[in-house]
Amino acid sequence: MLRTRFTEEFGIEHPIVQGGMMWVGRAELVAAVANAGALGFITALTQPTPADLVEEIKKTRDLTDKPFGVNLTILPSITPPPYEEYRQAIIDSGVKIVEIAGGNPATHLNHFKEAGVKVLHKCTSVKHALKAQAVGVDGVSIDGFECAGHPGENDIPGLILIPAAARHMKIPMIASGGIADAKGLVAALALGADGVNMGTRFLCTQESSIDQKVKEQIVANSELDTKLIFRTLGNTARVAKNTISEQVVEIERGGGGFDAIRDLVSGARGRKVFENGDLEAGIWSVGQCQGLIDDIPTVAELVDRMVAEAEDLITNRLGEIVVERVGSRA
Ligand SMILES: Cc1cc2nc3c(=O)[nH]c(=O)nc-3n(C[C@H](O)[C@H](O)[C@H](O)COP(=O)(O)O)c2cc1C
Repeated sequence: MLRTRFTEEFGIEHPIVQGGMMWVGRAELVAAVANAGALGFITALTQPTPADLVEEIKKTRDLTDKPFGVNLTILPSITPPPYEEYRQAIIDSGVKIVEIAGGNPATHLNHFKEAGVKVLHKCTSVKHALKAQAVGVDGVSIDGFECAGHPGENDIPGLILIPAAARHMKIPMIASGGIADAKGLVAALALGADGVNMGTRFLCTQESSIDQKVKEQIVANSELDTKLIFRTLGNTARVAKNTISEQVVEIERGGGGFDAIRDLVSGARGRKVFENGDLEAGIWSVGQCQGLIDDIPTVAELVDRMVAEAEDLITNRLGEIVVERVGSRA
């Protein structure tokens, strides 16, 4: 058993989190993660309306009696979704853990706190982690530059970002981005994190609802097969390398603004990739850690294997290194 501030304070068996994933964070995956003893998040905005979210929460409860959470992602949008209504749906459904990502958690925090909901805030910088801690969130999850989705604009990898944040964090901190196996988990704990958040690794499991061809592409891809888009818009996103993301980068390089790429990057096109397995239909989020992924396990196999290998790494490999050093000094 790996016990940390996170497992204790959030009441989760293992220090492993499945982060919110648009089009992917649905009942089957989240329940499988919960049943494996980790913390899964339903992605609120994958559900077209707050009423649909209530149904998805019910469906998840039918599949597990373990704790799970809901991710509420607040991103810049021309026509913002009804965030307050989604928030109320989460509270009314009795969910006790929420992941807020993308925006300032303060707007929603008091509402969740009053309802006894624990809030994990996902951010991409030490500055924002500190701010979240100051306004009273219960934990932070920090995405390094390696991550799928939005790594922010500072380009600081987890090897620096996590220990830099750990110096200041008094609340549980989850390392996110680039973690796909036990080595990543143990490294994150050594860097000062209380657990890990994974997107790409859970995306490529049997219970993830995406088309099999996308999972096979993740297995085939290396760490080189991602692209950073929206750099020129100050809203960087890491997505899979394909003809569409390469076109987007070219247009941005040539000075094209959002109007020039709007159609290429539409959510509807990205959704087609996941639903139909048409890998060139649009852009789809994936992280550099796809280079570490070479199978499509069940969620339980993945979590069990990570925990067992992490325990072995800590007690054997790391233990042996310390013993040798002590020996050489004597
Ligand atoms: C397909 C996909 C969709 C994602 N969608 C969201 C999202 O809607 N909201 C969010 O907060 N993070 C989202 N993420 C980011 C993940 O929650 C997580 O922070 C990230 O994947 C961690 O990096 P990793 O992929 O290297 O593990 C998404 C990631 C993937 C792979």
